[in-house]
Amino acid sequence: MKFVIANWKMNGDFELVNQMMSEIGKGRECCKVIVCPPAALITSFKGFEHDLGAQNSFYEEKGAFTGENSPKLLKDIGCKYVILGHSERRAIFQESDELIFKKWNAAIRFGLTPIICIGETLEERSRWKEVLSAQLANYCADKSLDLQGTIFAYEPVWSIGTGKVPSMQEIEDAIGFIKDVIGAERNYYVVYGGSVNGSNSAEILNIHGLDGVLVGSASLKVSDFKTIIGNASV
Ligand code: 13P
Repeated sequence: MKFVIANWKMNGDFELVNQMMSEIGKGRECCKVIVCPPAALITSFKGFEHDLGAQNSFYEEKGAFTGENSPKLLKDIGCKYVILGHSERRAIFQESDELIFKKWNAAIRFGLTPIICIGETLEERSRWKEVLSAQLANYCADKSLDLQGTIFAYEPVWSIGTGKVPSMQEIEDAIGFIKDVIGAERNYYVVYGGSVNGSNSAEILNIHGLDGVLVGSASLKVSDFKTIIGNASV
């Protein structure tokens, strides 16, 4: 069963929520659809037939952390997943691997399944293995650490929002490398994100070893998103 994860980023409104609710009902698809809207829209998805995720959560349950979202509260309002360490959070909000790992621990503690984003920038492209290894190090130091179904999203930063997608072989190599680094016999998944759309999703979803896709801008267009869901269901 493939994952089709929508990251709306700081986009969407009540109209888009209603459109998604009415058009992306439980059909005959056999993939796992997860929608991650802005936190302020999560409770508007009342009765949604798919799973919901947040785009970030803090590493404490509650307290004097103005502006942060509690993983416990996100769970209480219906989230099952949370995206952590997206490249936009790493770049704009200076999130480090250590901070992301603290958030990972808290998410697990409160019953959210983390979606951990990793990926190299254009400048780091020639040494992508080193970059991915460093971003994965906290999850691999102790191979007996229970990853509890964590979804690792390989998102090359240079592919996000650019329309540039690595070759299918490059994605397959990166997925294989990530699995080698994390190790077999552990409880996790690996998906790809970066300029996934209705037209390229069939080919991407066919990549050996890939568990699904994380979709940005195309997840804001209901027809594109439906096409991707259809391609993940074959
Ligand atoms: P795009 O699909 O818009 O390239 O964004 C990918 C992404 O960042 C998903 O988290």
